[in-house]
Amino acid sequence: MLYALQTIPGLGELAWREAETHLPSGDGAGPRLVGLRAIPGRNDLVLLDHRGGAKPLLALRSSEDVFAVAARAFRVAPDERGLRQIYAAVRYGEAITATVDQWKRTAGTRQQGGTFRVIARTVGKQKFQRRDLGRAVADAIKDGWPGRWRMVEDEANLEVWATLVDQELVCALRLSDVTMRQRGKLRHLPASLRPALAAAMINLTDPDPDDVFVDPMAGAGTLLLERAAAGKFAEIHGGDVSSEALSAMQENLRGVGGKIHMSRWDARNLPFDDGEVDKVAVNLPFGKQVGAEARLPELYRESLSEIARILRPGGRFVALVGDPRTLESARAAAARALRPGPRHRVMLLGHTATICEFTRA
Ligand SMILES: C[S@@+](CC[C@H](N)C(=O)[O-])C[C@H]1O[C@@H](n2cnc3c(N)ncnc32)[C@H](O)[C@@H]1O
Repeated sequence: MLYALQTIPGLGELAWREAETHLPSGDGAGPRLVGLRAIPGRNDLVLLDHRGGAKPLLALRSSEDVFAVAARAFRVAPDERGLRQIYAAVRYGEAITATVDQWKRTAGTRQQGGTFRVIARTVGKQKFQRRDLGRAVADAIKDGWPGRWRMVEDEANLEVWATLVDQELVCALRLSDVTMRQRGKLRHLPASLRPALAAAMINLTDPDPDDVFVDPMAGAGTLLLERAAAGKFAEIHGGDVSSEALSAMQENLRGVGGKIHMSRWDARNLPFDDGEVDKVAVNLPFGKQVGAEARLPELYRESLSEIARILRPGGRFVALVGDPRTLESARAAAARALRPGPRHRVMLLGHTATICEFTRA
């Protein structure tokens, strides 16, 4: 069955990598990447073919939503004819019965039909409006889908997401609910990471059961929670200069098992011996958050030098920053043992941020 994973703009590739490594490969047939689509500033969509149910997809952590793709259309005309193509694709698509059944199994319902709403998105130059796309899809559902379907504005049983990217339509049924995106985190601070982004960063540290993991500026603890969720570890340590952050972190990690230590500390002077730590991930303060941009280069230099000191050779360091040039200057000046690896640009609330990978030489 064709599924779609939805994630933060820029994370599509990393969400696919997670799916590729974590989804069961059954009788030798693992998931297959069908395509990556960008809805600029909003989302990345990963289209993948996966045999079997939705459960392992719903357990992926660098995606925020999972969909079953009910219908697709290609070479959709940018005018009225396009709307007729969309109507036909959604009304008569071959995969509709199977995907509606998949949605029913995931939602735990046996009822034939119910209420639905359409979320319509368009990318590209069409002569029709987004709401025309929504109407074409809604008409096709009411006219042709198995069972009786009634459109509502809110609180629908079924959400149908119709995305037209240039000339290609992806019409998909939402299988996940809000818990996949929010992970039940209790307390949020203004600079808190979205869990899917934290999970993607954690995957880049190459989690290992023997890991001693550190987040030196852990805020509300999102990276710590995602490291704990990523599999076995030896120890997790998180700290922050702010006592408000420390109490949010402690609250959010309450009930998570294993050796997890949280402290109030200064990331420029960490309580670890040289080479004692295997993995570090951090969301560094950006200019707007700390309010004193002039001090950032100094803070980056001193904390990078400390991270290079505590990491063992071969250890991994993954950082999220607003301006990778400031990070690179700090590395070149004070932490040359951190060898730069790939970078990944993401969009967060209209701003770009960059995930930077390093390996300790
Ligand atoms: C961008 S936030 C981290 C957010 C965190 N990843 C989360 O999801 O909640 C940066 C954090 O760095 C902390 N911080 C700033 N300077 C620090 C320092 N010298 N030592 C330790 N923490 C520091 C701030 O208090 C803030 O909580």
